[in-house]
Amino acid sequence: MDYSTRTMHTSDYEQALHLWQSLPGIGLSSADEKDNICDFLKKNPNTCFTALNNGNLIGTVLGGSDGRRGYIYHLAIHQSEQNKGIGKKLVDLCLNEFKKSGIQKCHIFVINDNAEGIAFWEKIGWQLRDDILVMSKEIKD
Ligand SMILES: CC(C)(COP(=O)(O)OP(=O)(O)OC[C@H]1O[C@@H](n2cnc3c(N)ncnc32)[C@H](O)[C@@H]1OP(=O)(O)O)[C@@H](O)C(=O)NCCC(=O)NCCS
Repeated sequence: MDYSTRTMHTSDYEQALHLWQSLPGIGLSSADEKDNICDFLKKNPNTCFTALNNGNLIGTVLGGSDGRRGYIYHLAIHQSEQNKGIGKKLVDLCLNEFKKSGIQKCHIFVINDNAEGIAFWEKIGWQLRDDILVMSKEIKD
């Protein structure tokens, strides 16, 4: 199949949001509003990627780092393009960039009823943790 990959640009936002909204398994919040995603891309310019087919966005991955660990968000492949190796390719691009900057481990948050997502991550070598729970706190005004 013919597709290309490149880093994600702010101009990809509308197509990316449309893709995220079309897929189960992608949780959206105020962090996904345009200004916030553009800010994320500015802070993580080398670790967010898109896959394109004839200029149309068919996949995304958002990678971010706090300097210690990598975090992956919004790995999403258009329904009609799934199971063609594109998801794994985007993850590999992201992990290679993390490695280059000295990051040794990457985490992902998966919605706990996303059985297909979990099966995908396990298939490509990720370990489901049973020793950690996520705790969160709102800190916006
Ligand atoms: C999960 C998702 C990103 C996978 O992307 P993809 O491009 O379809 O996956 P790939 O084709 O790169 O698959 C890589 C390997 O995983 C396997 N795989 C893919 N989906 C799988 C699944 N649901 N269960 C088990 N294995 C799976 C593939 O068969 C392939 O194995 P192979 O190398 O032996 O052929 C995609 O299905 C998607 O966008 N899902 C909806 C959004 C979502 O849940 N994202 C994850 C949020 S945590």
